[in-house]
Amino acid sequence: MQPTTTGQNRTGAATAEEGVRAMLEANERWAPAEPIDTTLADSERSLYVIEADSVGSIPPPVTIHGMLKSGFDKLVGERPEVLMDKIGERLAFERSGTRLYDALIVKYETLVEGGEMPELPMPLDAGAADVASTLERIRAEEHEHFLLLSEVMTSLGGDPTAQTPCADVTGVASMGLMQVVTDPRTTFAQALNAMLIAELTDNAGWELLITLAEEAGETDIAEKFQRAKAEEEEHLVIVNTWFTALVTAPFATVAA
Ligand SMILES: [Fe+2]
Ligand SMILES: [Fe+2]
Repeated sequence: MQPTTTGQNRTGAATAEEGVRAMLEANERWAPAEPIDTTLADSERSLYVIEADSVGSIPPPVTIHGMLKSGFDKLVGERPEVLMDKIGERLAFERSGTRLYDALIVKYETLVEGGEMPELPMPLDAGAADVASTLERIRAEEHEHFLLLSEVMTSLGGDPTAQTPCADVTGVASMGLMQVVTDPRTTFAQALNAMLIAELTDNAGWELLITLAEEAGETDIAEKFQRAKAEEEEHLVIVNTWFTALVTAPFATVAA
């Protein structure tokens, strides 16, 4: 893999002085005197917002058992669909998280084999674990989170294989993360930057789910979610420690 170094980057205006001068001259002569009016484009966009359907729908509970369960009883009348939608979202994100770590592990192993991977510091509370086993552990935890959510979804009478609206939206939003990590050209630090976005979202996502579960009176479920949240907090510290170390290291231009 080629390291990130200074090269023939010509994307900036400073590399084409003459062109910039011509552009400024043209701007001087033909630019509209008033700021461009985007009212028409804005109202067109508004029209689409008003007329559009929603992104999918939340499936109704699939089992009577789920609906009659005491937990679900408490939810009825308190917008249970919000909790189901958000569990569906988290489920999709944890599944993608597992795949993200799969891709990150491949990148890491390849760089280690090629002698291109600088040493990464382990956060103090990570004990004696090395980077490879820590990556495997985090990957396994993301997978466990996915399984936990599938189980909770089923216990509430939902279908864990259904794509809820928020699952769809979060899938679209996180597409770029997978592209960054699987891009063969990205450095480990660039991939970690994408993982940082994922882990920050993980943390906020579990926090919201805990609030929703508590509000619904689902204390057992909220407790399980708390344990996942504690793991996410650790993931965030580890990813951020590695990312910061790579970017601030003296070898940053080569390895990061
Ligand atoms: Fe997770
Ligand atoms: Fe995580």
